[in-house]
Amino acid sequence: MSSSLTFSTKFLIIKKIINRLIDTGRSISSIICCFSPYFPAGLILRFILHLHHTVRHYAVNACLLPICQLHGAAVTTVEGIGSTKTRIHPVQERIAKAHGSQCGFCTPGMVMSMYALLRNKPQPSMDDITQALAGNLCRCTGYRPIVDGCRTFCQVQSSAKPQLFNKDEFLPLDPTQELIFPPELIVSQSSNLKTLTFYGERTSWVSPTSLDELVQLKSSNPKAPLVMGNTNVGEKSDPLHSQSVLHPLIISPTRVVELFDVTHTAQGVWVGAGCNLSEVQSLLEKLAPQFPKEKTELFRALIRQLRNLGSQQIRNVASLGGNIMSAYPNSDLNPVLAAGNCKSSLNPPGGRREVHLNQDFFVSFGKTVLKPEEIIVSVFIPFTREFVGALRQAPRKEAAFATVTTGMRVFFSERSRVVQEVSIYYGGMGPTTVSAKSSCVSFRPWDDETLSRAYDVLLDELDLPPSAPGGKVEFRRSLTLSLLFKFNLEVLQKLREMVRQGTISTSSSACRSSRSEHIPQSKLCCPTFGVINRLHLLFHQHVSKDQSAHDPVGRPIMHRSAISQATGEAVYCDDIPKTDGELFMTVVTSARAHAKITSLDVSEALRLPGVVDVITAKDIPGKNVRTEFGYDEELLAESQVSCVGQMICAVVADTRVHAKRGAAAVKISYEDLPDPVFTDAIEKSSFFEPRRVIWRGNVTEAFKTVDQLHEGEIRLAGQEHFYMETQSMLVIPVGEETEFKVYASSQWPTLTQEAIAETLNIPSNRVTCHVKRIGGGFGGKVTKTPLLASVTAVAAQKTSRPVRFVLERGDDMLITGARHPVLGRYKVGFMKDGRIVAADIQYYSNAGHTIDESLMIVEKILLHMDNAYNIPNLHGRGAACRTNLPSNTSFRGFGVPQGIMIMENMINDVAVLLGRPIREINMYKGPSVTHYKMEFSPENMLRCWNECKVKSDFSNRRKAVDQFNQQNRWKKRGMAILPIKYGIAFAEGQFNQGGALVHIYKDGSVLVTHGGTEMGQGIHTKIQQVASRELHIPTSKIYISETSTNTVPNTCPTAASFGTDANGMAVKNACMTLYQRLEPIRQKDPKGSWESWIDAAYFEKISLSATGYHGGPDLYMDWDKMEGQPYAYFTYGTCCCEVELDCLTGDYRTVRTDLMVDIGRSVNPSVDIGQIEGAFMQGLGLYTLEELKFSPFGLLYTRGPSQYKIPAVCDTPLRFNVYLLPDSDNPHAIYSSKGIGEPIVFLGSSVFFAIKDAVAAARSDSGLVGPFSLDSPATPERACLACSSPFTKKIPVSKPGSFKPWALNI
Ligand SMILES: Cc1cc2nc3c(=O)[nH]c(=O)nc-3n(C[C@H](O)[C@H](O)[C@H](O)COP(=O)(O)OP(=O)(O)OC[C@H]3O[C@@H](n4cnc5c(N)ncnc54)[C@H](O)[C@@H]3O)c2cc1C
Ligand code: FES
Repeated sequence: MSSSLTFSTKFLIIKKIINRLIDTGRSISSIICCFSPYFPAGLILRFILHLHHTVRHYAVNACLLPICQLHGAAVTTVEGIGSTKTRIHPVQERIAKAHGSQCGFCTPGMVMSMYALLRNKPQPSMDDITQALAGNLCRCTGYRPIVDGCRTFCQVQSSAKPQLFNKDEFLPLDPTQELIFPPELIVSQSSNLKTLTFYGERTSWVSPTSLDELVQLKSSNPKAPLVMGNTNVGEKSDPLHSQSVLHPLIISPTRVVELFDVTHTAQGVWVGAGCNLSEVQSLLEKLAPQFPKEKTELFRALIRQLRNLGSQQIRNVASLGGNIMSAYPNSDLNPVLAAGNCKSSLNPPGGRREVHLNQDFFVSFGKTVLKPEEIIVSVFIPFTREFVGALRQAPRKEAAFATVTTGMRVFFSERSRVVQEVSIYYGGMGPTTVSAKSSCVSFRPWDDETLSRAYDVLLDELDLPPSAPGGKVEFRRSLTLSLLFKFNLEVLQKLREMVRQGTISTSSSACRSSRSEHIPQSKLCCPTFGVINRLHLLFHQHVSKDQSAHDPVGRPIMHRSAISQATGEAVYCDDIPKTDGELFMTVVTSARAHAKITSLDVSEALRLPGVVDVITAKDIPGKNVRTEFGYDEELLAESQVSCVGQMICAVVADTRVHAKRGAAAVKISYEDLPDPVFTDAIEKSSFFEPRRVIWRGNVTEAFKTVDQLHEGEIRLAGQEHFYMETQSMLVIPVGEETEFKVYASSQWPTLTQEAIAETLNIPSNRVTCHVKRIGGGFGGKVTKTPLLASVTAVAAQKTSRPVRFVLERGDDMLITGARHPVLGRYKVGFMKDGRIVAADIQYYSNAGHTIDESLMIVEKILLHMDNAYNIPNLHGRGAACRTNLPSNTSFRGFGVPQGIMIMENMINDVAVLLGRPIREINMYKGPSVTHYKMEFSPENMLRCWNECKVKSDFSNRRKAVDQFNQQNRWKKRGMAILPIKYGIAFAEGQFNQGGALVHIYKDGSVLVTHGGTEMGQGIHTKIQQVASRELHIPTSKIYISETSTNTVPNTCPTAASFGTDANGMAVKNACMTLYQRLEPIRQKDPKGSWESWIDAAYFEKISLSATGYHGGPDLYMDWDKMEGQPYAYFTYGTCCCEVELDCLTGDYRTVRTDLMVDIGRSVNPSVDIGQIEGAFMQGLGLYTLEELKFSPFGLLYTRGPSQYKIPAVCDTPLRFNVYLLPDSDNPHAIYSSKGIGEPIVFLGSSVFFAIKDAVAAARSDSGLVGPFSLDSPATPERACLACSSPFTKKIPVSKPGSFKPWALNI
């Protein structure tokens, strides 16, 4: 082996960038690498040389990329492709100007994925774009604007003209201007044939150059992993991972040419095991059209799986050999490789051998038959004579591991019905890839009878215990059957095709065996969507012709930081440069749900290198306990814990890695306390008091008078905020008079300031809290950030050093709570004509172990329970359940998305019972009064409803959907149209205040500060528009730097969709004051410029600084009298959705969404449409996709993007039309606008109800009619089981209570 090789300066720079990306967590595809064919030392170079002879550009996940792997690579980050200081890149410009950047935290990743695509394909198709962006998540925009910006690079443009940006303004893409591969990295072949070794603190990295050397290395170090793509090894050996696996030696065979060889034979193709999956996909895509279809069945099956495997960023690095050797239970490739008779060529010391990738190869979880010292050199993919199928079902269509995945192959005797060979493998049905060998034996011949026998054998053969890890037992078992059935349909279709072409005879009974379920052939198949070319329409009011061209209010102006966000220049909390002596903090949390802490031993942690201190409750100089509504919450648990994830102590160290190691070394002993409460709070009467009640009329009496009564219930799961920037803060002791500077990603800087002051026992005037921008908040950074910042402040105070605390995603999800899960039970009385006369609804929210804002959330649920309906007798009861789960908190909509859903589900039930729509008949009409006696006019609500019906062509499409459903058995379409009436502002009147401070400097530039925080919702952009109008100057002269407690004190949380209403008015107030002060100057010099007036004002000693204040409406709610004026006004909307559901797998696609929203006169339509689309997609995630799973002991399983799926590009509706209601005024808010941040989340439930409608159609084919239960989210699992197909009916259901389920049903 060669001697060690030190990093060049260039590499140090790269390392710094990558470390920063890793440290900030902004790693998802935010860098790309390009590898030169002229640089043989490049680690993937030989592979590229072999296959392409060209530079390849790969978008990769920085977090999975080992720095040593980059030897010879050029790394480009978003900062490298363009900047505001030089020239921005067209990708940066287009995403920004198309309004594709809100909070901006995801934007560099989006830019780099698109940039990488354009480097490889300057004129991509829409399919290329959606594939490239499939692995990038955005929680703000709903993806439509990002895709629209990227779409402008397509050669084939959509005929629809974008409404919110002018693409003629865009810089052209000029590939000749792109970065070239750095010549200095091109070094001679010979000098790079040396083995590379890098020595680290605890690990060495060796990169051999030949297969012989690799074999020798592996045989002398059998335990050393081979790191290819690092997507499996990397996850486990991440030094930040608490169960991190330490590898003293890592072998990197990426320069071993033999592992990248591709050899063609008459029987098939040998593919080097080192090839990454993108390369395997391209190779097969290139080969498939060159041969007859029947020869490449296996190639095509593999391509299908590869397109859906992980994301492009993963496929760009993950290797074929690595995928096989990882032996994941739900590997997508292994079942297909196994069913397809593939084999591997191994190179043990002393010679090669070939091993088939069959049931004997995959031994158990993560294990294969290979001996530790063996290496897969290549994999043989044969040509086929038979039919091969590859099917998968995953929680999300893209970038998600499959729930069940399968590879199937059938070979018929020539011109006969007889099956010669069948091979069926499943993933997701055991600890590794499993073979359904007994079922295969039962296939002679291929007909309905055999198939039906095979189902029974399959059920026996692939049994799963009811408490199997991963859960979804019934669903997984039913998928084994339905995927086989789907394969059968595919085979039949191909056979029929062959008959048509005369390749086989019509007498082949395999062709005739299409009587599955005696369904006409036409109903078996269904049209697919083909290439998706998303179409979108956006309509908004245009400003009046009389409005001055310089007045920006009402115009679709780009988010003021969008360009900085797209160039990576925007500064988030963790981008603040490290200060001298700065420490990093990490917290140690409870491993028990309900226990006494019997001992806390920090001695070992304190002995570890880099660890400076451990902070416990005893170190808190002020209050460790917060009291809300009479309930205490500890910052750090002292003697007892009440949920898994509760903070117990914090470790501060010189680096994040050392802090993490220190935290892992803290030893805590517990004594369990009896009876933790998770799902049984109602039975155990475990509630936070007071419980709330509201009613009008008399439901008991009314129930006696109605034609029909109905009772039902629905459960709504919680939802993780999944803001892209996790909770982040930096506390710096100034070193003088107990003064602290705090930088935090907080929606409520004032509460952060107050909490720190209380914790440290110092006055608030010693703490200043600064918030520049937040990488998404959604309500999750209102009350939780102050708690986390308080602990950080204790550490800073105790060590007298700056302390940074940036939560890892897993800790953030574990500690900071989520949206409240809610159970709703209802009884409804109605008349035959559809009128609902009385409804009694009980709401139980799962608050977790502390009260937080749970009581206010219950109140908001009750206040919105009527939604759009005038139900004369209405009774609501709400309770916040106290459980031993993490404390839930506010989340966009503040309980309304859960509360209204229960009312809508009840209405849905009644409509199903009566067999006709009943929403319209029950809506408020004319001057109206809510159940809490607030007067309002529902006119615009009804306008939204009627206009949405027209724009969506509701009645014609409804008929088309019904017709489709009659013609198709296994695919069903569903439609739903729903209204919303959403109250804006805080019912707690004091929170409606806004404050501002406006300075005009002598050069005429204006600095505006106000009480709202910018978290992507565009408040600073709108405020800039307000200031521009009031001061009569262009927005370019106005700057907003940050929100801070030393400029605008005592601010309210930026929440309740009221930020612009309150702070916009305050800024208007301050600007008007200043403008009036300048009046005498203007009078003296009417032709002067803004600058000259400011100059003159200074010399005339006119103050150029003013505060602004807006008291907000005096809102209130009197719960004793059950009346009040809790809202300033209502925002209205209606949404119509259509979905197509695959009843066999539960997969669905939103075919079309039409949203009509009344937001008065929008201050900025592009920002507001962004809020509408983003909220809709977040609602779609809430009601159809996102699932938080807890173990039976209260541990959150779903602690990252691998387990918790938020909507991705693939989930956006194929047509997404947004219309802003024209001619709407609102006297209660600035410039007649309306708050819009939250309301539309609820309308995401129109997708839920459309799925429910499709399920109802499927059930009716099985003879099931009437209301049925479908909890939210309507995941593929729930939708499929609710369809009650012949396959789901075959699955035996285990008796509840007879087993411990893998996950709690929260
Ligand atoms: C976010 C994410 C999403 C994913 N989604 C999917 C998915 O949807 N479907 C799916 O099937 N997979 C999925 N995967 C898994 C991914 O495909 C595998 O992790 C990957 O293929 C492993 O390849 P690698 O080169 O990265 O392996 P590495 O992590 O580099 O190595 C993995 C293991 O394989 C061994 N190894 C590697 N090459 C050889 C060889 N030639 N001979 C012997 N041993 C070898 C190594 O020693 C190591 O033990 C996903 C992974 C991630 C991180
Ligand atoms: S803009 Fe995409 S996460 Fe905020």
